Parts: sequence; structure tokens; C-alpha cells
Amino acid sequence: MKGRQFSKVKLVKAGGEIGSVAQTVYDMAGELDRFNSAQKQFFQNASHELKSPLMSIAGYAEGIRDGIFEGDSVRKGLDIILSESGRLRNIVTEMTLLAKLDSEEDIYKAAPVNLNELIQETTERMNPQLVKKGIQLHASYEVLDQISVTADRDKLLQALLNVISNAIRHAERNIYIQANVEKGQIQLTVSDDGKGIPEELLPYLFHRFVKGKDGESGLGLAIARAIVERCGGRITADNRREGGAQFSFGFPVSAG
Ligand SMILES: Nc1ncnc2c1ncn2[C@@H]1O[C@H](COP(=O)(O)OP(=O)(O)OP(=O)(O)O)[C@@H](O)[C@H]1O
Ligand SMILES: [Mg+2]
Repeated sequence: MKGRQFSKVKLVKAGGEIGSVAQTVYDMAGELDRFNSAQKQFFQNASHELKSPLMSIAGYAEGIRDGIFEGDSVRKGLDIILSESGRLRNIVTEMTLLAKLDSEEDIYKAAPVNLNELIQETTERMNPQLVKKGIQLHASYEVLDQISVTADRDKLLQALLNVISNAIRHAERNIYIQANVEKGQIQLTVSDDGKGIPEELLPYLFHRFVKGKDGESGLGLAIARAIVERCGGRITADNRREGGAQFSFGFPVSAG
């Protein structure tokens, strides 16, 4: 354990209290081992994601400096440098948020949140993108009018934005937001009429850096899940029978 070789820790067979201590230490080593590999994986993925925009920025900057690009291609190179810097900034912002959500840091401020208002604000924020892509939003969540959940409002807004911005990116023409309240449980679904989620991604969709061919950093849904779970809720993904992706949020109704 001291050398952090958690996978090499063996279970010592013993009876009584020593036996139960041995079992606890053994279980703990297993847990630490899993945590360790998850961290390693995260750093590997993160450095890979950061490297590719950096390489392309460096490549274009060098090419421009050395006069390899001329005329129009200088402008194009600069555009790429700018857009790749933007991509880097997004990745770093998302990674920082994830790290904060992971830590015990007190960044999560829970209070009753009116879901109706929250969804309204989310869709208002997404409106420019909806208009730009000519996508219709069909929303029916009036049942949430008097309903609150206990959550950090800004964070939950972020989770909704992440899911809805994906829907906008992948929808053909329509996005549907629907809500249902039953037995103290709120069910909120966001679906679209796009191509849907590739089957092979579905089991890992909420893992960090998992993304499709047309994906960006692959952190949006990992963030959404971390937030929803901190709110005591659940988020799941599936494909609709008619085609298109469907994301469901489940929350317990908060008292008051
Ligand atoms: N509504 C959707 N329809 C089809 N595929 C989707 C949908 N939402 C998500 N996906 C798939 O899930 C992947 C992961 O989504 P996620 O939001 O985590 O990452 P991303 O959108 O690629 O990047 P970002 O971190 O910028 O959000 C996407 O790359 C895409 O392939
Ligand atoms: Mg996304």
C-alpha cells in the first residue's frame, strides 16, 4: 500500500478482528487501484486532447513566421490559430469545472430551483443558435410550474445547456422538451430528430472525453452527469424509436 502498488495487495487470510481488518484493507486497495487507473486515464486523455490543438497552432504559427504561407493562406492559418485557441480555452474551462465538481471544494450551492423558470432561461440562451440553424423547439413542461428541485441553479443550467446544445448540433429540424411529474419524481426529456447516438458510444456516453466523429471535447455530458448526480438526480441517454437521441433527467421533487 505504501508503495502505491495497490494491485499487488493480497488478502491475508485470518479469522476474527484481524480477518475483518485484512478484508477492509484489501477492499480499500482495490478501490484505490481503480481510482488510480481512472486518474491516469484522465491525464492521458487530457494531454492528448490538449496536444492536438497546440500542435496545429504551433504548426501554423511557424509556417507564417517562416514565410511558407502566402497571401490568402496566411489569413486562413491565422483563422485556424484563433479557432484552435478557442477550442483549447473551452477544453481547459471544461476540465477545470470537472475537477472542481470532483473535489470537495465548496463550489456547489444548493437551494430550491424552479424548474419551469430554469428551462425557460436555458432555451432563451440557446435561442440564437436555434434560429441560426433553423431548428424548431417544441416544449411542454408547464407541469413544472410550481415544482422545485434542490440544486445549484447555475450548475444545473450548465447541465441543461450542455444537453440542449448537443441536441441543436445534431438535430435535423426539431427538438422536443417534455416533462412529467409522477409519485414525487420529475422526468424531463430532451430529444431531437437527428441521426441519434452511435450504438457503440451509448454505454460510455457520459465518460470523459468520449465523443463521436463530429464531437468536440467530449466533456459536456460528463459535466452534465456530474452536476445532475450532485443534485440527487439521474441522467440517461438513449435513441428514440423514430430516430434521434433522447436524454432523460430524473429528479426527486423537493419539498416546499
Ligand atoms: N443529441 C445528440 N445526437 C447525437 N449524438 C449526440 C447527441 N448528444 C451527444 N451526442 C454524441 O455524444 C458525444 C459526447 O457528447 P459531449 O457533449 O459529452 O461531448 P461533445 O459535444 O463532443 O464536446 P463538448 O465537450 O464540447 O460538449 C458527442 O461527441 C456526440 O457524438
Ligand atoms: Mg457537447
